[in-house]
Amino acid sequence: MVDLPVLVTGAAGFIGFHTATRLLQAGRRVVGVDNLNDYYDPELKSARLQQLDNFSEFQFVKGDISDKAAMEKLWAEKGPFVEVVHLAAQAGVRYSLENPYSYITSNCMGHVTIMEMCRHTEGFKHLVYASSSSVYGGNKKLPYSTDDSVDKPISLYAATKRADELMSHTYSHLFDLPQTGLRFFTVYGPWGRPDMALFIFTKNIVEGKPISVFNNGQMKRDFTYVDDIVTGILGALDNPPQREGDDAPWRVLNIGNNRSEKLMDFVALIEKELGQKAEIGFKPMQPGDVPETYADIEAIQKLTGYKPTTTIKEGIPRFIAWYKDYYNAKAD
Ligand SMILES: NC(=O)c1ccc[n+]([C@@H]2O[C@H](COP(=O)([O-])OP(=O)(O)OC[C@H]3O[C@@H](n4cnc5c(N)ncnc54)[C@H](O)[C@@H]3O)[C@@H](O)[C@H]2O)c1
Repeated sequence: MVDLPVLVTGAAGFIGFHTATRLLQAGRRVVGVDNLNDYYDPELKSARLQQLDNFSEFQFVKGDISDKAAMEKLWAEKGPFVEVVHLAAQAGVRYSLENPYSYITSNCMGHVTIMEMCRHTEGFKHLVYASSSSVYGGNKKLPYSTDDSVDKPISLYAATKRADELMSHTYSHLFDLPQTGLRFFTVYGPWGRPDMALFIFTKNIVEGKPISVFNNGQMKRDFTYVDDIVTGILGALDNPPQREGDDAPWRVLNIGNNRSEKLMDFVALIEKELGQKAEIGFKPMQPGDVPETYADIEAIQKLTGYKPTTTIKEGIPRFIAWYKDYYNAKAD
């Protein structure tokens, strides 16, 4: 069988970069697509791509997933792709209050465009795409289960991710397109996102600036180390859902760490690792945010054997080692 490349959308992004790396290390060919937008420092995206360029089996195409003509060109020139890991999106809960349109363009139009490409691909095997724990909105029942009702999103970001899950169901039902949506819980690790808590806290502490801790510090998160997430993504990719009777080949899975950590413990670990105390400004809860997340991961465990192994005690030092290396090298 010809080894067709896997398409990774958002390959210059945090999780896309790690996913592409693992696929390449496993000997797969990978085509990455990303529009390299400036939601956060594009230099970090380029630096991730430079790492991927060390693999001869990696090819990158700059392009926008919401641009139908660009995706048709990508499929024609680098495809066909029968396996797609679709991670490109406008991420971030808070930014969706400022720039709603970018969420609709990338997360809704982009998602439909990728599904359209997949459904017109002969022998298509599996589309695995990123959803988010934010779809659970203000749900109080913990741990969050995929059986819970998720009809009341409290941010536009969450609403677009939920819309993706629903549109995916329609495509799986109508066109027998095998799809798995993964609800990621707060993912962290080396090469992480500058808009997320671990990065912001580390940067501010290093620079002697105060950090803002919301909900007066009473926050808990199911922090998931990026290597564990990638293991889950690739485990899911190898297990496409099948049509069963009237049920479409579609599923949604939680992928978290199955532990809810206190944000203040997280901060204490960063302080310990940096050997510096944080100046903490306690703030009220932010609109669109939730006080606690915690994933029920039984379904992905059963399907793929997924078992997250990295605790925050191991993961935070690895992030901080990367952060120091990356920014010291830039300063040289
Ligand atoms: N990191 C987390 O904790 C987390 C949690 C829940 C869900 N997610 C989801 O996982 C996926 C990956 O997240 P991430 O943390 O790697 O984010 P990221 O922002 O680092 O990566 C997303 C990448 O997609 C690219 N992109 C955005 N819009 C695009 C478009 N229209 N066309 C082409 N490329 C585009 C961006 O340039 C970026 O490089 C996203 O779908 C995100 O919503 C992430």
